[in-house]
Amino acid sequence: MNILIAPSVMCADFLRLGETLEALRAAGADILHVDVMDGHFVPNFTLGTDLCRALHAASLLPLDLHLMVERPEDRLSWFPIREGDWVSVHAEATPHLQRTLAAIRALGAHPMAAIDPATPLCAVEEVFDDVDGILVMTVNPGYAGQKLIPNTIGKIRRLRAMLDAAGRTSVRIEADGNVSLANAPLLVKAGASILVAGTSSVFRKDVTVAQGMNDLRKAIDAEGQIVPD
Ligand code: DX5
Ligand code: ZN
Repeated sequence: MNILIAPSVMCADFLRLGETLEALRAAGADILHVDVMDGHFVPNFTLGTDLCRALHAASLLPLDLHLMVERPEDRLSWFPIREGDWVSVHAEATPHLQRTLAAIRALGAHPMAAIDPATPLCAVEEVFDDVDGILVMTVNPGYAGQKLIPNTIGKIRRLRAMLDAAGRTSVRIEADGNVSLANAPLLVKAGASILVAGTSSVFRKDVTVAQGMNDLRKAIDAEGQIVPD
């Protein structure tokens, strides 16, 4: 499966967003990861509905909308979800996960279920048929710049095996959090095929986003080898 790179918009320089988006597109970014945090599900506020509208207007790249909000089923209509976008809702945030995933599918977007590091894989096992992807948080959600929780690599490996055994080989696994140049090949080897690129790779200090994209692609190509940070 080809690997999709999803630069995380919350890690960009907001005062230079337009030129950053153009540089990401030119450097081969596949989708734009947009973290929406509501101050309840996670202890932070981040990006919102108006920014999603502006990103759609400014860029042809699909959005990879990561809804870290309580009761996402009540908020889907707030967002300008368009065909080809990816939309993740957390299993921990709704008692109606299947219904919410079906609503995303009905909008023409790719439904994804997301899980925190401590959430067991059985929380998403019954919705394998309802998703195009499963987002595995490799850090606790809320902030950029954290360290990957090592157990999550084995978790991705076990999830890949479960999906394949269920005949859902086309369902992607997205790794979100500290996808560094060192961790990316390990995550890909474990079975991740969407990588959220934040402060650990594309938005590193002292390198351009074009250089960051290039470094990340090279690290993935060297899959299986540990590339120093
Ligand atoms: C949380 C976010 C962050 C972040 C990733 O959902 O997606 O994990 O942007 O970037 P780093 O590389 O800083 O963890
Ligand atoms: Zn995210």
